[in-house]
Amino acid sequence: MKAIGVLVSGRGSNLQALVDAARRGELGGDVGVVVSTVETALALERARAAGIPAVFRDHRGKKREDFDGEIVEILRAHHVDLVCLAGFMRLLSPVFIRAFPGRILNIHPALLPAFPGLDAQRQAWEHGAKVSGATVHLVDEGLDSGPIVAQEAVPVLSDDTPQTLAARILEVEHCLYPRAVRIMLEGRCRVEGRRVIVEGE
Ligand code: GRF
Repeated sequence: MKAIGVLVSGRGSNLQALVDAARRGELGGDVGVVVSTVETALALERARAAGIPAVFRDHRGKKREDFDGEIVEILRAHHVDLVCLAGFMRLLSPVFIRAFPGRILNIHPALLPAFPGLDAQRQAWEHGAKVSGATVHLVDEGLDSGPIVAQEAVPVLSDDTPQTLAARILEVEHCLYPRAVRIMLEGRCRVEGRRVIVEGE
């Protein structure tokens, strides 16, 4: 059974979607460990409720590389095959990225390369985009810049607020992330430059 490690900092609804998909046998693996940089994160409670090892690590006062090295150790100790960032509010250093080459995913609430960075749903809304959505991508050393594994569009409606748009995108995220994780765990894709070629798609 393959294992994923999920890095979180907050609410953890995507973590929950991954846990639920695993329990239904739809993930191609299981969630082996959850690591949070925020002690009070709801995501940690969700992990504990699901019987998954849940680890808090404080980054304050540590050099970025040292902190990332600690997280890498934890993930290795749990024999993680794939790392999933799910609302993880830190940029990873090269130390981390090189420890899991081509095996780190992130989910972003916009159609990349549009609207990278923080508050992407509001960015799309303020820009007046008619379509936004969600993206799962491989993580490289840039900000939301790695090769795209899966995307799904969500319409932006005239009476949307940033909050209603975010809620509609979040629903899509909860299906998209497990689907992308399954593709990766089953080895059904290969990377050619910026393009991720998925078997059968
Ligand atoms: C999601 O919108 C995700 O796309 C972004 O951060 C948010 C995390 O939400 N990267 P949750 O913690 O999974 O509920």
